[in-house]
Amino acid sequence: MRSWIKCHLCGLAPSFGREPPWNRQVQQMSEVGPRVAIVTGASRGIGAAVAQRLRHDGWQVVGADLDAAEGADLNLVVGDVAREQTWDRLIEAARPMGSLSAVVNNAGVQGNGRHLHETEFTDFTQILGTNVNSAFLGTRAALRHGAEGTSVVNVASNAGLRGVPRYGAYVTAKHAVIGLTRTAALEGARRGVRVNAVAPGPTETRIMDDVVRTFDPTSPAAAHKKLTRANPMGRFATPDEIAAAIVWLLSDESGYVTGTVLSVDGGLTAA
Ligand SMILES: NC(=O)c1ccc[n+]([C@@H]2O[C@H](COP(=O)([O-])OP(=O)(O)OC[C@H]3O[C@@H](n4cnc5c(N)ncnc54)[C@H](O)[C@@H]3O)[C@@H](O)[C@H]2O)c1
Repeated sequence: MRSWIKCHLCGLAPSFGREPPWNRQVQQMSEVGPRVAIVTGASRGIGAAVAQRLRHDGWQVVGADLDAAEGADLNLVVGDVAREQTWDRLIEAARPMGSLSAVVNNAGVQGNGRHLHETEFTDFTQILGTNVNSAFLGTRAALRHGAEGTSVVNVASNAGLRGVPRYGAYVTAKHAVIGLTRTAALEGARRGVRVNAVAPGPTETRIMDDVVRTFDPTSPAAAHKKLTRANPMGRFATPDEIAAAIVWLLSDESGYVTGTVLSVDGGLTAA
């Protein structure tokens, strides 16, 4: 029996069943042709490393960023991924390239290291807006337009799993990204869409440079040493180490993995 047939008692389609085809708001993209990945925040840092790995593995990649890519020859849509119009442009850019099979919601901002009582409301909403709205729009785009077998990775943070003084807005946002991931995984499971999160620890990118400078503006080198020592492995991650975990979650190797949060943090959250 097809699982979308309505229950004769309550008249509702079971929520755990495969979505009836007439409920799909927008057609999935063609399932022929090369696999296409959309990667946000692709101009530098972790996003650039993901784009590079995917292209090496034969994917077509459409990047999105506020800034043009630094050096890389990337198929880039310049725009704010927390805005719906940018996603319309991304889907249009991806469509002729093949079958949308992966979305990496990586773009994020961390904030300025203020305690909650010092945080302006506009700053709080801006940090939430960028991190959470972009992850929602990218996840929704995958659920609406992704081919069968699409994999979504939301880049959360170790700050999505614990409290971190002076980063309250960022912590709130990354917890929300994890909640979004878990719910989307449940809703996507019978639609052929997997949704997972990666929770990086401190990683050598511009965001972390800013954290180090905030920690001790007079001596960033000393602050860097202190922060790396605080990690169980005694160092920060490279962007490529985070990208490796993301690309595994996008691959068929992780085909039965959905709704999980994969910490890649040198043991930070095990403590
Ligand atoms: N670096 C770390 O230590 C660390 C730790 C945990 C989680 N993360 C997460 O990893 C992700 C990637 O960060 P990163 O470390 O590579 O930082 P990064 O600053 O090097 O890269 C972030 C990229 O996102 C882009 N971006 C920001 N807001 C955008 C928007 N609204 N629209 C489009 N592009 C936007 C930036 O222009 C930049 O290219 C972020 O979500 C961040 O929160 C980073």
